[in-house]
Amino acid sequence: MSQAAPPAPLAFAAARPLSGAVTVPGDKSISHRSLMLSALAVGTSRIEGLLEGEDVHATAAAMRAMGATIGRDGDAWTVDGVGVGGLLQPDRALEMGNSGTSTRLLLGLVASHAITATFTGDASLSKRPMNRVIEPLSAMGAEFTPSPGGRLPLMVRGIVPAVPIEYRLPVASAQVKSAILLAGLNTPGITRVIEPVPTRDHSERMLRGFGATLDVEELPDGTRIIEITGEAELKPQHIVVPGDPSSAAFPVVAALLVPGSDVVVGNVGLNPTRAGLYTVLRMMGADITLEDERVVGGEPVADLRVRHSGLTGIEVPSEVVPSMVDEFPVLFVAAALASGRTVMRGLDELRVKESDRIAVMAEGLRAIGARVEELEDGLIVDGTGGAPLAGGATVAAHLDHRIAMSFAVAGLVSRAAVTIDDMAPVATSFPGFVELMTGLGAEVR
Ligand code: S3P
Repeated sequence: MSQAAPPAPLAFAAARPLSGAVTVPGDKSISHRSLMLSALAVGTSRIEGLLEGEDVHATAAAMRAMGATIGRDGDAWTVDGVGVGGLLQPDRALEMGNSGTSTRLLLGLVASHAITATFTGDASLSKRPMNRVIEPLSAMGAEFTPSPGGRLPLMVRGIVPAVPIEYRLPVASAQVKSAILLAGLNTPGITRVIEPVPTRDHSERMLRGFGATLDVEELPDGTRIIEITGEAELKPQHIVVPGDPSSAAFPVVAALLVPGSDVVVGNVGLNPTRAGLYTVLRMMGADITLEDERVVGGEPVADLRVRHSGLTGIEVPSEVVPSMVDEFPVLFVAAALASGRTVMRGLDELRVKESDRIAVMAEGLRAIGARVEELEDGLIVDGTGGAPLAGGATVAAHLDHRIAMSFAVAGLVSRAAVTIDDMAPVATSFPGFVELMTGLGAEVR
């Protein structure tokens, strides 16, 4: 896991125009859910395009430890599930590495099984708040013994039968929503989640795809009421995981910023609850065209053709934040090269990701010559109007893959190279990132 790996510093420098066609690894959110739901189906599921990153490996190891058989068949993964209610007591702690999604979703699964499990994580994950899932899952009857502040390491004792709840999400979080829905799978009756602001809906789509009874009602104000009927029976599936739009964001923004670039990023998932970055970049004047729009594994997918574009700063509408919550670090870099001012607010959740992404990005961007003002809930960036940044600094990734990749992109548009102190965390979500960027023409040393 990234905690144990020695730091891997790498410098990214001004690149010639980027060109070529690439595909990015499978969607991380869908990959986690594919393994979890397949492990709860009765029979053998097949998963193509699974992200083979450390975070997903953490989920796979946990599902194996709780009884699923997970193997490889050529390029595809196979999962023999134990059935809803059939998860077994693991005989060791579940090591979650850097992965918040694995942790929060698996806490939901364990909460409604007769299992007592300890969850551990790396230094980054051990700082992240778990009370957001502990609270609703405790209301369903599970018992938690967390470290101070509701953090990892923590122990959970699940309960059978769990109690169905109705829960209104106090934060816009797909992880919290999904934890409750997964707990609801093995809970008698109807478990209801009320979501005032829509977040990524992969859990809903996939639970239905696996045969669970799940209803979604959308109110005129956009609130979504999601109901899952418990003691579900899941049927094994053949899943094709589309490319991750959150990973595609890095080569896309790099191509927009490096003069003369013309790049195709193929097979990008464009679920509307995930595609906010692409809408915002186009509002800023980005030349991104969607080619060969199609549906893969129940998700909209397209190839993105991206050409270098002069971007203009905007006020980013706060409604789009949940649909691009992971993409702000790289949007900050795009804003640093835009003409004029970009104002981004409503980003409180960025402070509790793999790092405090507002503070860490503000500090690193300043170190390489960008003009930024940190707000409690966001960032104001005054761009260079396309001129390169100064660069010439080493920035700290803080065990955060998206920070590392964002500053890699910044290095490509800086006068002096930008060194990232540790690129190892990139392996959590985007194995092959450095090779992919080098293949497009990036200068990496
Ligand atoms: C995820 C939800 C988001 C996102 C994370 C993946 C998921 O987290 O940041 O990378 O797969 O459900 P929150 O639920 O904390 O917003």
